[in-house]
Amino acid sequence: MIKQTTYLSHSYGKPNSWTLSAYESAGGYRGVRKALALTREGVIEEAKKAHVRGRGGAGFDCGTKWSFMPKESKKPHYLVVNADEGEPGTFKDRSIMEMNPHSLIEGCIIGCYGIGAHACYIYVRDELHLSKARLWGAIREAKAKGYLGNNPFGKDYPVELYVHSGAGAYICGEETALLNSLEGRRGEPRLKPPFPAQYGAFGCPSTVNNVETLAIMASAFDMGCDEFSKLSELHPFNDGGARLFGVSGHVNRPGIYEAAVGLTLRELIYDLGGGVLQGRSILGVIPGGSSCPVHLPDELPTLPPDPRYDAYRGKSILDIPLGVDTFRSAGSMLGTCCAMVLSDAVDPVLALHNVMRFYRHESCGQCTPCREGCGWIERILNKVVEGKATIDELDRVHEIASNITGNTICAFGDGAAQPALAFIKRYRKHFEDYIVNGGKSQTRRLTV
Ligand SMILES: Cc1cc2nc3c(=O)[nH]c(=O)nc-3n(C[C@H](O)[C@H](O)[C@H](O)COP(=O)(O)O)c2cc1C
Repeated sequence: MIKQTTYLSHSYGKPNSWTLSAYESAGGYRGVRKALALTREGVIEEAKKAHVRGRGGAGFDCGTKWSFMPKESKKPHYLVVNADEGEPGTFKDRSIMEMNPHSLIEGCIIGCYGIGAHACYIYVRDELHLSKARLWGAIREAKAKGYLGNNPFGKDYPVELYVHSGAGAYICGEETALLNSLEGRRGEPRLKPPFPAQYGAFGCPSTVNNVETLAIMASAFDMGCDEFSKLSELHPFNDGGARLFGVSGHVNRPGIYEAAVGLTLRELIYDLGGGVLQGRSILGVIPGGSSCPVHLPDELPTLPPDPRYDAYRGKSILDIPLGVDTFRSAGSMLGTCCAMVLSDAVDPVLALHNVMRFYRHESCGQCTPCREGCGWIERILNKVVEGKATIDELDRVHEIASNITGNTICAFGDGAAQPALAFIKRYRKHFEDYIVNGGKSQTRRLTV
């Protein structure tokens, strides 16, 4: 059964939802008051109980990440908000910044206090002009009310927030490339270790968190983090609370929906998304942004022999609850939890071609396997589409993609290889059809 929630989305679509008065009349800024009444260590212990898994894609537990920050340090600490949101098919953070910016501000104050930071940089993708304007407006309002500045809510713990315009590159969403870009350097990922908690923004201990991760922490603290975690069907997997689910592509009602963690793709596509456009069947589903593998609707994943998975055995990928560990164990990836639906009107060859053009364009070029590999894959796909490729070349895509995986500084390489491997594995006959028929494919072209 779907447990829809409205922690972040209560104000979506309502007039002036982004204002302080609207946020406070809906119960906003209660969580931060509770957090500031605790010690810094108390905030971290409480945050861990929420089991909020990072909403930026990697799914790391938020409270645990906060606990990695040094307890004692002569250097300043920073909280950095990842509002780059460049993953194709992902548009959830933008909805928070545009329609509920105070939830992010509240989460940032809690986060700053928990990690011992007095300054927070919100790194917003440059194109999101409305998000930046709404955030600055909300910061001004919060400052005027004394919620930011020297004594937030009367506490002797100064907190300042700054909005920083991004540099318009997908790679700047990778947390260490983001830090370089924030410092005015080229947006290239850094080698890890050292991790940001040791050497982050300006060489100081820093935590990088996604917009939604921080915004939902405000509700978790208000409700009590333990209780909040238990909203989730995946509480036994330490994947707690509620989250935003996106659905786009060939569905009747694309958009952002909020629900307890544990929703399935079938519920997201059919119950919330209104089903597939024109009543067609599903050709494939990408669970959370283009870096995740595409799946056939009737795919039966092999799950680990852990009894927590017993309830899901024998079920299609569409019926496995959307969670960080459940999807990883099912041979997939939850990513940003913003699913893309391809109806059977889609030509998967053209879809992959489009995706790989994106990755070739966005590779920062630092690591050879990614820089060269993405270009090689795109060039082979150009030939496939033109009907000039051979079966050997199609097999070479598999080899190139496998050589990118795990051989780069950051996860961009894996994210680029994943779609190539998954599309060709699942729709190989479509690719072969292009090759055998010299580009005059019998498979259907995009019609919607
Ligand atoms: C190529 C690439 C792009 C990324 N883009 C984003 C992004 O736009 N927003 C985001 O929050 N995380 C993005 N991430 C993940 C971040 O590196 C990082 O894991 C995240 O910001 C941590 O926040 P969280 O723990 O709250 O999820 C990206 C990662 C990679 C490899």
